[in-house]
Amino acid sequence: MSCCIHPSILSADFVNLEAELGRIKTADAVHVDVMDNHFVPNLTLGLPVVERIQAVSAVPLDAHLMIADADRWAPLYADLGLASVTFHAEAATAPVKLARELRARGSKAGMALRPATAVEPYLDMLAELDMLLVMTVEPGFGGQSFLDLTLRKIRRARAAVDGSGAKVAIQVDGGISASTIERAAEAGADVFVAGSAVYGADDPGAAVEQLRGLAEGAARGRVQSS
Ligand code: DX5
Ligand code: ZN
Repeated sequence: MSCCIHPSILSADFVNLEAELGRIKTADAVHVDVMDNHFVPNLTLGLPVVERIQAVSAVPLDAHLMIADADRWAPLYADLGLASVTFHAEAATAPVKLARELRARGSKAGMALRPATAVEPYLDMLAELDMLLVMTVEPGFGGQSFLDLTLRKIRRARAAVDGSGAKVAIQVDGGISASTIERAAEAGADVFVAGSAVYGADDPGAAVEQLRGLAEGAARGRVQSS
């Protein structure tokens, strides 16, 4: 079972982003948190900055849009040529249409759920998605503690994805560290966002490899015992 680690640049030094990207060459993608101070009570960066990050990053970009009016804005991120664009289900009026639009523009389509949003209403649209993001903290800030209450949702999402036959990655984001990543992997996640655990380390590239090793070990255990 291969697991992907996506460091979040929310915990990087925003004044030296290009150098900070160079410290995570072992990553599978770089996670870019876009916040608008409406959908979440925090503000980060928008289209022009993401466009520049995309231009200089050797690692593909995974944008996580914590913004209102996702139907309007998310396609513009796909137009930048990002590898994947994830919108929040709670911020989209027409998630099926939006997921199709993202794919049509060449990005993988991701949809995120806040911790209290159930996955069940969305199960019929799994085939429209390349990635389902189960938030493991309330979105808005890095450095929060992993919410164990999300593990049951990860398990239900994994069972539904496996049962559907659709190829949908299950991403987790928030509080992922060496002490929590195995729990999330055992529950069925296979893509892991980590901000403070990567950029807070002396060697972010080594931290990525350590996290991947832990996740893959736990994921193997899950597959063997199922
Ligand atoms: C939170 C963001 C996360 C955040 C994760 O709303 O979506 O991507 O950067 O940071 P850590 O890993 O520190 O919880
Ligand atoms: Zn995120």
